[in-house]
Amino acid sequence: MSFRPFFSAQGEGVKKLKLFNFRSYLGSFEMNLEDCFSPVVLIGSNGAGKTNLLEALSFLVPGRGLRYSRLLDIPFHSDIRYQDEKVIEMPSRWSVFAEAYRGEFMTEVGTGVMPNQKRRQVKVNGQLKKSQESLEDILSMLWITPALDRLFCSDPSSRRQFLDRLVQAFDGAHAARCSNYYKAMRQWGRLLKEGRVDEKWLSSLEEVMVSTGVAIGAARLDIVERISRFLKEETDSIFPTATLEIKGFLEQTLQEKPALLAEDLFRFKIKKSRAIYADGGSFSGPHTTDLKVYYQAKNQDAALCSTGEQKALLISIILAQLKAQMKEKGVCPMLLLDEIYAHLDKKRQEALFEQVSLFPSQVWFTGTDVDLFKGLQKRAQFFNIENSTASCFRAVA
Ligand SMILES: Nc1ncnc2c1ncn2[C@@H]1O[C@H](COP(=O)(O)OP(=O)(O)OP(=O)(O)O)[C@@H](O)[C@H]1O
Ligand SMILES: [Mg+2]
Repeated sequence: MSFRPFFSAQGEGVKKLKLFNFRSYLGSFEMNLEDCFSPVVLIGSNGAGKTNLLEALSFLVPGRGLRYSRLLDIPFHSDIRYQDEKVIEMPSRWSVFAEAYRGEFMTEVGTGVMPNQKRRQVKVNGQLKKSQESLEDILSMLWITPALDRLFCSDPSSRRQFLDRLVQAFDGAHAARCSNYYKAMRQWGRLLKEGRVDEKWLSSLEEVMVSTGVAIGAARLDIVERISRFLKEETDSIFPTATLEIKGFLEQTLQEKPALLAEDLFRFKIKKSRAIYADGGSFSGPHTTDLKVYYQAKNQDAALCSTGEQKALLISIILAQLKAQMKEKGVCPMLLLDEIYAHLDKKRQEALFEQVSLFPSQVWFTGTDVDLFKGLQKRAQFFNIENSTASCFRAVA
């Protein structure tokens, strides 16, 4: 995939990052970047706190962050419960704060969980907001983590999550759509399992599932179409062209029938599934959709490709998403690349550097060995991460 830079696209990035009790970062941690658009490289040994930092950044956009963890697992905790015979109180409060830039425009973003609260709160320019939706238009973000190395061989739920992340970076409202769908489905399921057949309540939850479900399906189809267009236009042998196909009842129906008819069919399907669901069964909908990926030149299912080929396909999809977003929205999302070099050969590592150095947005890398990042020595800001502290250093060519 050759790279045509989109010089007109706005860059995104952060300049100041502050964490409080975020995982291994006990108490306050602060990181100041010289530049909010050039690449950042975090070097440190295993367990130093590199991925935790990327995860903290991923909370600057709506959603559950790059580990999809439970919020209560995030505040610093330790197995050491006593010190000088006193019980140590574990913090329940954590927060992430950043000066976030989109082009010239700076927004102060704060997010976290306060003691005895279950929900993640959001502050924008010092003002407490009602929901995460206010993060939608501040930054967009995509990431590749080691957990995605097995994406094509794992269960559909991981590919569904990956697909929704591709949509979310392009269309900030998608996280709210998904969370409303799942929330309604959980309530609906609970009523059925408890045998509380309140027709009015069930129907109103079904209406939420229908409207959000159809919107989710349409947004997924839309992003796959945009990405596929880019993949078709720009073929090269370094990052192989992927063919994407969505397998899901609603998405397939939406491809063949008008949206109103798809809504009717889905409504009918949900109602018909009430008894089955109450008995522990399921029905197909946006919550069961899968994303199939093929290595086009080999006409092969990605699940059957080598580990390195799978990684290259993944990068190819992410780069196509970025380019689609730059061209069609005029904004380049931030990119978080955790241990990206695992499984990539030298040629692909160099090609990735070359492409990334042309991106207008901040790209974050992590690694244990600075030598892997030689190609970025002139442009990137390097930080040593050790025991959850950061120190800036100059990488020498
Ligand atoms: N809530 C938490 N409280 C305290 N420590 C935590 C919490 N969650 C995770 N950790 C610890 O944070 C440490 C750093 O984790 P992280 O995943 O950031 O390491 P890393 O630098 O990415 O290492 P690797 O190179 O192995 O990927 C780990 O030792 C982990 O156990
Ligand atoms: Mg890590």
